[in-house]
Order: sequence, then C-alpha cells, then structure tokens
Amino acid sequence: MKLAIGSDHAGLRLKEEILQVLNEMDLEIDDVGCHCDDSVDYPDYAIPVANKVASGEADKGILICGTGIGMSISANKIKGIRCALVHDVFSAKATRAHNDSNILAMGERIVGPGLAAEIVKAWLGTEYEGGRHARRVEKMMAIEEQ
Ligand code: RB5
Repeated sequence: MKLAIGSDHAGLRLKEEILQVLNEMDLEIDDVGCHCDDSVDYPDYAIPVANKVASGEADKGILICGTGIGMSISANKIKGIRCALVHDVFSAKATRAHNDSNILAMGERIVGPGLAAEIVKAWLGTEYEGGRHARRVEKMMAIEEQ
C-alpha cells in the first residue's frame, strides 16, 4: 500500500514520530513535507496529499497540523476525499468501517505520540464494512456533483 503523508510546521514533530511507526509497516511512504521548522501554510501540504489520494497515486493519506482542523478542511475540498479528523482509537476504527475515510488528520497540539501511533495503527488496520454504510457514503459523495 502506498501512503502519502504531510504536515505543517506545527505537526512536524508528530509526523516524524508517526513516520517511525509507518516505517515498521509494509508501506510505501510518500512524505510531501514540510521538512523544517519554518512557518508554512497547511493547505500547501494538505492539497498535494489529497490530490495523490484522489488520483490513486496513493491509497491513503495522513495529515498533521497543530489541531488537524486546517488540514482536514483543506483536504475535504478535493473531490473524492473523505478526510476524518480523529483523536481517539474508537473514531479511527469507526471512520474506516463506516465512512471509508481515505485520509486521517490529527493535531500535534491535541494528541501525544503514543496515542497518535495507536490511532494510525487502528485506522490503517480497519477495513471498510460497506453494506448499509455504502448507501450513506454514496449520498455523501453525490454532494460533490451538486
Ligand atoms: C498553525 O499555527 C496552526 O494554525 C495550524 O497548524 C493548524 O492548527 C490549523 O488548523
């Protein structure tokens, strides 16, 4: 599986922690940045990750900023993206199983690295259930055609 990941300066440290977790998994990782402490703008990293996922260049994405909010709002502007802002393990599993989320957003100022690692493992390890959820996901995605 190919996974695209990005952060702004406020999410850089947590991204580095997450990359250590991801490097132990059987994944191809595409880190779009940022790569230093300079103040940057979260859409400049959210949009490349979202475009990679939307085009199929990446299977899933992870975005991290201070709160995860700017990243999630930006990513969800891209057609085909279902970016979930998650700060607990239950929601990480539920959003894969029910919403078929294709990008996970988190905030470095909200979660510590230990919980973030568990969230990432739960999110990547949970399959979409389809079934009754498929109708709801289809309705959600149909909004993009309005
Ligand atoms: C940067 O200060 C901060 O605004 C950003 O990382 C994010 O939290 C925005 O949603």
